[in-house]
Amino acid sequence: MKKLINGLSVFFEGSSSNKPIIFIHGFPYDHTMWKTQIDELSRNYFCVAYDIRGLGESPAGDGQFTMEQFVDDLEIVVNELKLDKPVICGLSMGGYIALRALERMQDKFAAAILCDTRSEADNNEGKLKRAAAIKRINLEGLTPFTYDFIRNCFADEFKNNKQSELKKIIEKSSEFNSIGVKGCLLAMLSRTDTTQSLSNIKIPTLVICGEKDSLTPPSVMKEMFHKIPNAEYVEIKNSGHMSPIENPEEVNKAIISFLNKLS
Ligand code: MLT
Repeated sequence: MKKLINGLSVFFEGSSSNKPIIFIHGFPYDHTMWKTQIDELSRNYFCVAYDIRGLGESPAGDGQFTMEQFVDDLEIVVNELKLDKPVICGLSMGGYIALRALERMQDKFAAAILCDTRSEADNNEGKLKRAAAIKRINLEGLTPFTYDFIRNCFADEFKNNKQSELKKIIEKSSEFNSIGVKGCLLAMLSRTDTTQSLSNIKIPTLVICGEKDSLTPPSVMKEMFHKIPNAEYVEIKNSGHMSPIENPEEVNKAIISFLNKLS
């Protein structure tokens, strides 16, 4: 099922009488990156996933995005669907949104799942990389950027063994509106650092990291995990930055075991 909320395309599966989980995808992907998780979890949970402003089926508008606006969007989706204390689950950029949402309104959520993400804001080198990416998209169009960026997200196992799946993912993202993709780069470049607030996260939190994640590596994610009081950490084998796609079996196992402990 799909519904437009605040202009965003919001998708849901499962019975709305079950406990809700809201999934926030990474960059430059869309809600379909959670397909394997939602297929399994929607048997027992009300699963909501939406396309972040500017990506997938959600509108790019003028592309003048901020992380704050992304969190406003999340809040509107939660309120509009009357989700009662959902579990918030975000990957990478979705994790940046989740971490800022936890800083702003932790009491709205029952628990958190933070996949392949970090609390630190971009340093100078990171900001310059985003600027170079925007310049490249302006000069060459979206496809060369998405090709390189997305390939860098996946571990060699996936790149070698799932070539056609990877090609489809790259092709899909290459069709996105470049204004939206650049808007997301600007929102990530200008986001705040949420590290100081990690110790205030009191809800149960699962931290998931692909063992071969080169963007948010285990060393970075373990440091984050140690700062969250009520957290557990799971490392996913044979997986890079996109663990829910690269090793869905292990990710689903970790999420289900975490959720079972909540109830
Ligand atoms: C993502 O997967 O969302 C991106 O790698 C985040 C980023 O570029 O910082």
